[in-house]
Amino acid sequence: MINKSLVSITDYSKEDILSILTSAADFEANPNRKTLDGRVVATLFFEPSTRTRLSFETAAVRLGAKTIGFSDAATSSSSKGETLHDTIQMVSSYADVIVMRHHMEGAARYASEVSPVPVINAGDGANQHPSQTLLDLYSILKTQGTLENLNICLVGDLKYGRTVHSLIQAMSHFNPTFKFIAPEELKMPDEYKTFCRKHNISYTESTELTDNFNDADILYMTRVQRERFSDLMEYERVKNVYTLNNAMLENSKPNLKILHPLPRVTEIDPDVDANEKAYYFKQAKNGLYVRQAIISKVLA
Ligand code: CP
Repeated sequence: MINKSLVSITDYSKEDILSILTSAADFEANPNRKTLDGRVVATLFFEPSTRTRLSFETAAVRLGAKTIGFSDAATSSSSKGETLHDTIQMVSSYADVIVMRHHMEGAARYASEVSPVPVINAGDGANQHPSQTLLDLYSILKTQGTLENLNICLVGDLKYGRTVHSLIQAMSHFNPTFKFIAPEELKMPDEYKTFCRKHNISYTESTELTDNFNDADILYMTRVQRERFSDLMEYERVKNVYTLNNAMLENSKPNLKILHPLPRVTEIDPDVDANEKAYYFKQAKNGLYVRQAIISKVLA
């Protein structure tokens, strides 16, 4: 079975990552290249999305490919009880690559194992979101000029946040120092702290945001994700735990950039949007070029 899927960021070596970032820069300089004329990209979104689905579809269109798919599982035959196995079997006979978001951790790996065409994981539960990580790396590289030796502060839902999990693994190639800021209920899982220790990555943990990121190069904010909680009382307790505002940025480093995978709810006050340190909307735009590079690589 020929399968060049991207399921986890750990599927890519440091060289693979750097080659995607170089390719993304080429696409940013020249986004309209019809190298995939006649190819079909399927986007199967079993969970809601704005950025990931639309940027993958725009990337496909800009490459000359056509897109098929669904943005709501209720409109697919999975709502009639069709298994993921059968859905993937069918769609792989229509499309050259499948981009899939699913609420179940491991769903993308399973799909990649039963699919004869490559599968790109667009987020599987609290597990991985590798295309987001690649666009995060591209954004970090563009704004800092390097990926090496950076201080990165990860804030918010570090327990269920798949983007921070993938980012830790990707940054392990570049000697980062992490600060994990989360309430007790949403602390970074032991699995990722063990990963850091195994890869000699320094990290500290805190529950406080104020005055705790003044040495950071990157402040990576995340949303407390209501959809991941089985106990909604617990969500209510932590949902507004941090709100970044302009005054809190007063003593931050001049090169600091604020990233967020988006959507944001209350964790960044809109007054920050006009601050030159706010980079989250440009970060999302970078997703288009990075996803052009990913689709091109898996279909090469
Ligand atoms: N960052 C991200 O995955 O956004 P969407 O949920 O809108 O795709």
